[in-house]
Amino acid sequence: MSDSSINGSTKNERYRRFIEQIDNLPSLPSIVSRLIQVVNSPDTSADDAAKLIQKDPALTTKMLRLANSAFYGIPRSISSVSSAVVILGFNTIRSLVLSASVMKMFSGSKKPAFDKDRFWKHSIVCALAAKTIVRQFINVRMMDPESAFCAGILHDIGKLIFSEFAGDDYQEVCAFARSNNLPLLEVERRMLGIGHSDIGRILADKWALPLDLEYALVFHHEPKNADNLLDLVTTVHIADVLTHQAGLGLWDGEITPPEWDQGSSVLRFGENDREHILTLLSDSIEKSGEFIDIIK
Ligand SMILES: [Fe+2]
Ligand SMILES: [Fe+2]
Repeated sequence: MSDSSINGSTKNERYRRFIEQIDNLPSLPSIVSRLIQVVNSPDTSADDAAKLIQKDPALTTKMLRLANSAFYGIPRSISSVSSAVVILGFNTIRSLVLSASVMKMFSGSKKPAFDKDRFWKHSIVCALAAKTIVRQFINVRMMDPESAFCAGILHDIGKLIFSEFAGDDYQEVCAFARSNNLPLLEVERRMLGIGHSDIGRILADKWALPLDLEYALVFHHEPKNADNLLDLVTTVHIADVLTHQAGLGLWDGEITPPEWDQGSSVLRFGENDREHILTLLSDSIEKSGEFIDIIK
């Protein structure tokens, strides 16, 4: 592939242009940043988080709708934000507020480089797969399944950043990967000089994301390279690969190379497990629509 194969500009020019653009990345809404801090603090009570959420009526409505939805399947009705926080847990609250604000932040771009509905479906199904993997494997039971869910929802957010700040170039990157049946990450790095997972570091810095999210964003395609949080990054990696295998990539047949060795050594994930999780995923695909409807 030639470096000058898109828009007549070289990879270095495209990289520089993108890095300059990404400087304009908006900050997270202050309520979201504060909530991330609050839910990560060991001294926080459900009331502290609820008080913060209640300052935002749209978030309050979304939270209550989600708590009462079939997505969580809680048998009794939940009418207050503090009960929703207690029942859903801090990590779910974190998933909800982050995904709702990221979705809102990037909902306005006129010319997205890819099908955003499909992007979010991929993200939510990956999140549900990650949660299921944590629940199924004894050696990762110490991890909160909701932490894996949150990491799963946001793992590919770098693609949204590309679409927003390098839309035309990224459209061509996607088209090239699609027509040559190549992994998107490889084509991003070759044509733009940076991959969507590399953007995780920039985002983590700009948005002060907690370490678990940063690691999931940066290492979900290369879990072997992570020097920490191996359970989490491997879980998100396997969940992502299975989501692709279930036919939910950015386009039909989008490939992502699996690191099965990593899955087997860290999670003791085998061939039978793969089939089992894929069967469970078919249920997740239906559920994903409801989650998207609520948070958007
Ligand atoms: Fe990815
Ligand atoms: Fe993905």
